[in-house]
Formats: sequence, C-alpha cells, structure tokens
Amino acid sequence: MENITFHDHKPAALSLYDAVVDGLSREDKSIPPKFFYDKHGSELFDKICEQPEYYLPDVERRMLSQLAEEIAELTGRGRVVIEPGAGSASKVRLLLDALRPGAFVPMDISFDYLKSSAMSLAREYPWLPIHAACVDFTHSLPVPKETPKGPRLLFFPGSSLGNFDRNEAGEFLHMVHDVLGDDGMLLIGVDTKKSEVILNAAYNDAAGLTADFNLNLLRRLQRELDADIDPNIFEHKAFYNVKEGRIEMHLISTRQQTLRINGYHFEFEEDESLHTENSYKYAPMEFIDLASESGFNEVRHWVDENGLFAIYLLAVINA
Ligand code: AVJ
Repeated sequence: MENITFHDHKPAALSLYDAVVDGLSREDKSIPPKFFYDKHGSELFDKICEQPEYYLPDVERRMLSQLAEEIAELTGRGRVVIEPGAGSASKVRLLLDALRPGAFVPMDISFDYLKSSAMSLAREYPWLPIHAACVDFTHSLPVPKETPKGPRLLFFPGSSLGNFDRNEAGEFLHMVHDVLGDDGMLLIGVDTKKSEVILNAAYNDAAGLTADFNLNLLRRLQRELDADIDPNIFEHKAFYNVKEGRIEMHLISTRQQTLRINGYHFEFEEDESLHTENSYKYAPMEFIDLASESGFNEVRHWVDENGLFAIYLLAVINA
C-alpha cells in the first residue's frame, strides 16, 4: 500500500515482566492497565464496547457524528491528526471526511493490532497518508519524522485519560501540549461523574466481558511469562469509589495461593486484591481546570443530553 508507513518505538519502554515483578512485590499488589491490551485483550475490549451497559462508546460516537462539521469548522481542515491508543481507529472514521486531515498518525501499544487496523484504514481512505507508530503512549508520543508539517490535532477519545491519576493526567496533557506545538489543538472525550448505579453496571456487564477482560491479564501472564497461576481462583471486582471519583478494577484471590514467575514467589492471602485499573471520571469544570494547568484554553465543550459523556476541544496557549 502506498499511503502507509510503520514505526516501532516500543521495546525499551515496555517490559511486561519488569512491570509484573515490580507490581506484585508491592504491599498493595497492582499491574498497570496498559498490559490488558495484547491482541486478545484489545479484541475483548472491543466486545466490551458493544455491551449495552458500557455506554461510553455509543454516546461518544453519536456525539462525534453529530459534531463532526462543527468541530471541523473550529479546527480548520488539513491538520495532522495524531491518535494515541488508536486501537481499531473506529472513532476517527466519524471525523475523517469532515476534518480532511493532511495525515493521520495512529499510535498503539500492540503492533499486530495497530498493523491490521492501519491497513484497513489505508484501504478505506486512499487519500489519507498514514504514519502508524507502535508506542507506549504513557511514556512518549514520538511522531514519525516523515509526517508532513502543519498544525496538529491530537485526538484522544474513549476516556482513555481516565486511566491516569490526576498527577499523571496533568503530566500527560503537558506532554501532549509539547507534541502539539504552536496552534495545536486537542479533541478529547472524557467520561463524566454520574450515578453510581450507571457506573457500576458499566464495569460489571451482564455478559461477563469486563470480567473476562480483567482475567485475561492473568492468562497473558501464563502465555507470555509462563507464570504458574490459576486464573479460575481469581474473581473480577469493579466498583465506583465515590471519594476518589474513579472506577476501580481488581482481581480478587478467592483463596490463599502462590503465584510463581521465573523463580519469584508471590503469596496471595484469601480475598487479597490485585489492583488492575483505575478509571477516573471528571465533572466538566474539573477537567477544564486540569487542562488549563497544562497550557490549554477551552475552545468549546459538549455534554450529551443525559450528562453521560463529555467532549472537549482545547487549544494550545501559544508561547
Ligand atoms: C479504555 C480506559 C477508557 O476505563 O472505561 C473498560 C477501559 N476497563 N472496561 C475504561 C475499561 C473496563 C476503559 N478505558
């Protein structure tokens, strides 16, 4: 294909083994959520997105299709669009005809997944130059050198920002600010604070896909690190922590057991938790404050009619 290049920046920043040994050695055991997304995990996440309880993608999609023209008028056409964590790149498709980007730079942690989704995008949009980069966006956002010059728009949908705690979110937005440069803009979808009933249901879908997604992390440790561990002894637990304003996901060990990886032993007590994810929720004013601390001005923001999800268009405050 003519309109596509691939770049692999990931290895140095990404070691599953180091992260797992580090996270399991802690008093409160944890593994960072980015390790959910091997190819199988990415596919499970796509299935979560089809569950009726997980309202986020539906609401955001509806908003993006309705707002595409308005957004394009505010950003102008022809920008270089960068999407960290692009995954299947399904949301950007809702904007491409309106935005007519000069180039698209999808970034994803899973090379296989990035490759297949970038290839089908390149086929569907032959006019669009694509520079796909396999990166761990929690560390850096390396835009490939041959990407055309011109004003940039970073697209960060899906409330992916929610995986960072508040400090990390501020640092990430600073990094985005620097990658964007003068005249850069950020279009970001962020989940709102809302009733616990709705939030708890969203992370405990009846079909059990979120549980499967969570437990797949342990199966990944078996597959890739040859970990001695029985995923059936763990249970999925997810709940909204009102005080912290976040969903927490855990894997709970239903009985005492030892997890072995490459000569390491990690003891789990009965009911002990392995903390696998936080998903922070923001009231619009909270998010706009956070963004302004990181060098952005609000251009406009939109909340859907039920207050379930928010989309923000922000502009870099030029130096
Ligand atoms: C991809 C981080 C936005 O937090 O809602 C979905 C991941 N975890 N169900 C989220 C997730 C469980 C999702 N993000």
